[in-house]
Amino acid sequence: MKFHTFSVKLTDLVNCILNAIGLISPTIARHHNRVAYISMRICEGLGLSEEERAATVLAADMHDLGALALEESINDLRFEDDYIHDHSFAGAHFLEHFPPFRNLAPLIRYHHQRWQTAMQQPAKREQVPLGSYIIHLADRVAVAIDEHENVLAQRQRVIDYVKKERGMEFHPECVDAFLEKAQPEYFWMDIASQLTEIAGERPCREKIIELDGEDVLSWAKFLSRLVDFRSPLNANHSSGVAASAAALAGLARFSRRECRMMLIAGYLHDIGKLSVPTAILEKNGPLDTYERAVINGHTYYTYRILDHVKEFDTLARWAAFHHERLDGCGYPFRITGVDLPLGSQIMAVADIFTALKEDRPYRQALGKREVLETMGKMAQDGAINGDLLLLLKENYELVNRARCDRQVRSAGEYAAMNPYFSRKMQRPARAFSGKRP
Ligand SMILES: [Fe+2]
Ligand SMILES: [Fe+2]
Ligand SMILES: [Fe+2]
Repeated sequence: MKFHTFSVKLTDLVNCILNAIGLISPTIARHHNRVAYISMRICEGLGLSEEERAATVLAADMHDLGALALEESINDLRFEDDYIHDHSFAGAHFLEHFPPFRNLAPLIRYHHQRWQTAMQQPAKREQVPLGSYIIHLADRVAVAIDEHENVLAQRQRVIDYVKKERGMEFHPECVDAFLEKAQPEYFWMDIASQLTEIAGERPCREKIIELDGEDVLSWAKFLSRLVDFRSPLNANHSSGVAASAAALAGLARFSRRECRMMLIAGYLHDIGKLSVPTAILEKNGPLDTYERAVINGHTYYTYRILDHVKEFDTLARWAAFHHERLDGCGYPFRITGVDLPLGSQIMAVADIFTALKEDRPYRQALGKREVLETMGKMAQDGAINGDLLLLLKENYELVNRARCDRQVRSAGEYAAMNPYFSRKMQRPARAFSGKRP
């Protein structure tokens, strides 16, 4: 099928991902920023081409992405052995499924590779790209700096550590490039300062990339996996909403292209849930007022994450307004009737339908009669569009089949992420321990 091509600035696309990461863990977002900066300077010291620099810095900007899907927030970046393997491979696996970033996957897969160990194994020596060694060195330097101490007071200690590990932990040429760049004080102060201009200095970010429909779909899946894989209970929710929304859009006479967009928007509808701790997402019981308030913020963040790419304007509205109501009593934008796009109304119906058809810790999936009764009351209350509900009622089997098929497929994709997630799956859900006002 021919699909409209989106011309998107690389920087906008990356910012979506970086903002999404920032929502889960500001610690990791800050760490990524530092590692990207140090990597950028090492690349310059090595005299790499602009393309090579761009790829390495971009990979550095997302290198611990896999850790975010494995844990809800990481404060200790000195991972143990199993975890090093899991988060590196999970991160690479995520990127492999988004064609424009596929070339970054090997850099992330080996970003904890010890230089001497790779040299002793001929197969590994071939596999590990230079960019991985650059990120590894930058990562360890970033971790060695104590955020609470003056950075210049730590300069000599970190330099001595890097020199000691030259040819052991770290690639010798990367160390030489680092030592050259690490001489002036500003290098250290840049690492500590987190200024946005420094973040904006990244190579090739102004580049425009062309994304076709399949690329945008894989990008949407890429983001939705970050949400879904954090919480096994919700692992297939986005795909179910996507399929139901696309099926309903077809019934509402949307064009084939619009149905495809609806599928993409469905995958993206809950990405703002990255802001919600998994202990709340997976709570086995009713939510208290505070927890409800945290959850209710998620569509605001869905909108703000997608808002970065102006070409995705319609997608953002279809995806993010699924808790708005026709009577204006929804959240968080309180959009009313005529201003609420039909695509958003379809998303709301698809979201409720899918949620009712899924098992929850406190109830089993509902049958057809109960689903239609529950949704019928919502239509009577002015929460959802009654005409769309009628379409669902008349074509219940078709929509339900589309939802089922896609959720089964997505369960297969989840299983393919094993063994990275097997340890996560065995862990009991933790109680919410976040700060409360
Ligand atoms: Fe890492
Ligand atoms: Fe790291
Ligand atoms: Fe939602």
